Amino acid sequence: MENFKEYYAWLQPGPVGCSASCSPMRPGRGVSLREVCVHGSEQADFAARELRGGLNWLAGQNICDENSGYKITLGLDPGIQAQGYRINGDGNGSFITGADREGLIYGVFAFLGKVGMGEDLPGISAESAPVVRKRILNHWDNMDGSVERGYSGKSLFFRDGRFCYDPSRMKDYARLLASVGINELSINNVNVTDASARLITPELLPEAAELAAIFRPFGVRLILAVDFESPVKLGGLNTADPLNGEVAAWWKNAARVVYDYIPDLAGFVVKADSEFRDGPAALGRTQADGANTVARALKDFGGTVYWRCFVYNCRQDWRDAKTDRPKAAFEHFYPLDGTFDENVVLQIKNGPVDFQVREPVSPLFGRMKHTKQAVEFQITQEYTGQQIDLYNLAVQWEEFFAAPISEHRLARDIMGKEAAAIAGVANTGCDGNWTGHLLAQANLYAFGRMAWDPGLTAKQVTSEWVCRTFGKNTEFDAITGMMLASRGVYEKYASPLGLGWMVNINHHYGPSPEGYEYMKWGTYHRADNTAVGVDRTAKGTGFAGQYEPWLEALYSDVKTCPEELLLFFHRVRYDYRLKSGKTLLQHIYDTHFEGAAEVQAFMDIWDSLKGRLPQGAYESVADRLKRQLQNALEWRDVVNAYFYRKTGVGDEMGREIYG
Ligand code: GCU
Repeated sequence: MENFKEYYAWLQPGPVGCSASCSPMRPGRGVSLREVCVHGSEQADFAARELRGGLNWLAGQNICDENSGYKITLGLDPGIQAQGYRINGDGNGSFITGADREGLIYGVFAFLGKVGMGEDLPGISAESAPVVRKRILNHWDNMDGSVERGYSGKSLFFRDGRFCYDPSRMKDYARLLASVGINELSINNVNVTDASARLITPELLPEAAELAAIFRPFGVRLILAVDFESPVKLGGLNTADPLNGEVAAWWKNAARVVYDYIPDLAGFVVKADSEFRDGPAALGRTQADGANTVARALKDFGGTVYWRCFVYNCRQDWRDAKTDRPKAAFEHFYPLDGTFDENVVLQIKNGPVDFQVREPVSPLFGRMKHTKQAVEFQITQEYTGQQIDLYNLAVQWEEFFAAPISEHRLARDIMGKEAAAIAGVANTGCDGNWTGHLLAQANLYAFGRMAWDPGLTAKQVTSEWVCRTFGKNTEFDAITGMMLASRGVYEKYASPLGLGWMVNINHHYGPSPEGYEYMKWGTYHRADNTAVGVDRTAKGTGFAGQYEPWLEALYSDVKTCPEELLLFFHRVRYDYRLKSGKTLLQHIYDTHFEGAAEVQAFMDIWDSLKGRLPQGAYESVADRLKRQLQNALEWRDVVNAYFYRKTGVGDEMGREIYG
């Protein structure tokens, strides 16, 4: 462990800090890393270099020697499913075979991962191909160096309106992303500023191309976020109307220029008609008109338009109880199913509102049968503790994939089918450990792994991360356990039963039960002295009707509605008895007390590992946990006081609630 650095994330140099059962330097059948040599065809050149470098890294010295006895052979086999790989070995050597260059890189990283976890070289065998072919990381980085909803320091790419990065760090980043299968990367915020709008012009394209060149060998293609208004702002036209011939021609020309510089650009991502940004609706056109015009410009170059569905009325009057924000995306996009071009992918947030702790699956998934979709997750912890609080997102993603979208299908079933892509909003920045909270690295890791294979469980990917980061040691199972519990703990103190939005306005950290209650954002829980929550059944706003009938029925009945979503779908009296037999009010009190106590328990677990973990890592996480406890106590007391003041009913157990 003496070589451990938070910066290396899950690619720690070996040998991993080990229990006796784990000794990568002396694998069981007597093959030492010192006896290894790597052979590959010319096409495998880059992968072979990465493998040699990776093995040297794990061994802590230059081990690869042409004349060594144990040969690792790299090659291609187009018979393997695209981007996939196969690894096998016999007593004399191992074979890593990729379907293509990407597959070979993934095979090399899979192999290195297993070596790092102490597997016996000849025994390593694996076969895998991604379920979802586009696994995308979206950075919300601004060119001034700030990061929208970023909690890990400044932008990795930009400073003061220019590109600015350390090329060797960038290469490390590319390696990190490729090692978990991420293959597309958008670098600038979807809220495109004037400066970043010019990323598609010759002023900034040469530097964008240099960046693309760093990521390219790792199989990671860039995406640029573009402004729908570009034809006006950059082109000097008097409209951005997508049905205007000059506008279409402008986009075509812009795309030609972009692809001159970056021939393998994956495409553009667009946030239009959303949160004060212009879009086709503002011009009387449909979202399909807008998306298709941009898509047609990219088509000849093989580019894709990722068109975001985060479209809603952000100027709502709280008095208006008919308009219901979760309904918005479906209302805008569902009627257009089948009218989007082949190279348009609709990028849909996992839930119908906005990355809350608990939301149902967006009703758009699976109901749009003739339109390519991407799920958008938020890896950066905006509403989920801002990388101060521990929050393992893999748990939430596993629930997403396992959630029904109709009577016979789970969300997982459309991955790699209608869902052609999975995107995640990045949680990385210039902090030394990339993610601020060391344990938040696991969220990036899990994102890549679960985008590759949505069938993986949170437990699998989290324990894998713990093992690769800290080493294989049964004592570290406690870390995995605490990480797996963390989502539930945060939910207990932050957001009862799918209510959401009790956060402080703007920055979204910490409690403010009515922070958003009288605002224009359409995010209301409407608590009064008898009940809380929004009736979204046919008797209420009708949101539940956007699901297929079987699912609508399930959500609409308080008895069958999953209890953790009760207040998302229903308005419920405080004296309503939950399945536990507790009243809703008592449940709120209990979970808030429990949540804060469980953070204290996390601190105890972490303390018990002192001395077994690298000191710096121990301290940095201990410090975050201390801050988390403050936050949890604040949430506990504010939320409990809020409902106590509404109801006048105290805690059955007589614990202190501030009146
Ligand atoms: C959230 C977030 C914004 C972001 C938006 C989006 O609302 O608070 O900062 O711009 O999502 O997804 O576009």
